[in-house]
Amino acid sequence: MNTPAVADFRNYPLISALTAVQPLADRLHVQWADGRLSPFHHQWLRDNCPCPECVYSVTREQVLEIVDVAEDLVPNTSLVDAQGCLCVEWQNGHQSRFDPGWLRAHAYDEASRAERFEAKPKSQLWTANLQLPVFEYHAIMEDPKALLQWLLALRDIGLTQVRGVPTEPGSLAGIAKRISFIRESNFGVLFNVQSKADADSNAYTAFNLPLHSDLPTRELQPGLQFLHCLVNDAVGGESVFVDGFAIADALRHEDPEAFRSVCEIPVEFRNKDRHSDYRCLAPIIALDTLGQVREIRMANFLRGPFDAPAEQMPALYRAYRRFIAMTREARFRVSARLSPGDMWCFDNRRTLHARNAFDPATGARHFQGCYIDRDELLSRIRVLQR
Ligand code: OGA
Ligand code: ZN
Ligand code: ZN
Repeated sequence: MNTPAVADFRNYPLISALTAVQPLADRLHVQWADGRLSPFHHQWLRDNCPCPECVYSVTREQVLEIVDVAEDLVPNTSLVDAQGCLCVEWQNGHQSRFDPGWLRAHAYDEASRAERFEAKPKSQLWTANLQLPVFEYHAIMEDPKALLQWLLALRDIGLTQVRGVPTEPGSLAGIAKRISFIRESNFGVLFNVQSKADADSNAYTAFNLPLHSDLPTRELQPGLQFLHCLVNDAVGGESVFVDGFAIADALRHEDPEAFRSVCEIPVEFRNKDRHSDYRCLAPIIALDTLGQVREIRMANFLRGPFDAPAEQMPALYRAYRRFIAMTREARFRVSARLSPGDMWCFDNRRTLHARNAFDPATGARHFQGCYIDRDELLSRIRVLQR
């Protein structure tokens, strides 16, 4: 038999060889050459059988449902074969054969799980002294390695600048599509950021826009935001960024009570015009199941009146003021002015962005923007890394 199929499109390097397998009542204990011991429960092994009966070889998706297998199914035999694979023959005659690289990558002994947790990409928090990651348009468009470097910076740092983008309107779409599908919204596939008389957002004025995320009015805020500078002749209009995760982290340490309030008390964000009415009720800071900051949702100009129990109102205002005051602190802020052909791309669910007021009487200013969801970014990274 040659290498067994895996329910995946990746390759799993052989980290350590399988040396022995020991049957227990409800599991196998697998011994690795580097000394690690991994338990694999019978159900888990049967559930993950990669044979062509259990996994459709074209899609590499499972067709077996574990509920169709006896809960107390046990192996007749289990052994490491000549190719180093784990072979299990079940009581009912079904045979499962596991690639040792795949098995190690999915082992759930304590050490393997801790290793996987450690290997997970971590956000690199930044403050005012950030060395801004800058990338070149042509490299991103032509070289998959440069594309990957850019995408990793977006994932881990959450703020990047790209230079040398053509200044023809619409060029933004080409670079966005290097990642994947653009996420359309009521503002269009590409939106034009220009001061206009019939503005349907404060963004389309010459006002100062305080630090915010875009579309906090949607259940899922866009993951990536692009802002491409076509014309920037007006005085003012500098861009400002803060790392929302760094601010959340500082707030957690410096004012734990305010941190708890912005994590727990939901706030409504609204965007409405004659044809649409979007609303989302959610806390400003969202935590994941481990208590880590997962997302920041903030745009003062889109916020509805607070609606919280009366006894929570003072705490909510105190926390909200504290959060905004922190976004104004110089220690967190990175500021720069774009020239035509420059583009910002950042993690809209982490990095808050702002624009200083500009004076339209001094010249034109035209940016184009678009969004891509975070899933598309992560998927493109994984495919490039295969
Ligand atoms: C926006 C925005 C920034 C700018 O349109 O949401 O933040 O520099 N614009 O105009
Ligand atoms: Zn099978
Ligand atoms: Zn914005």
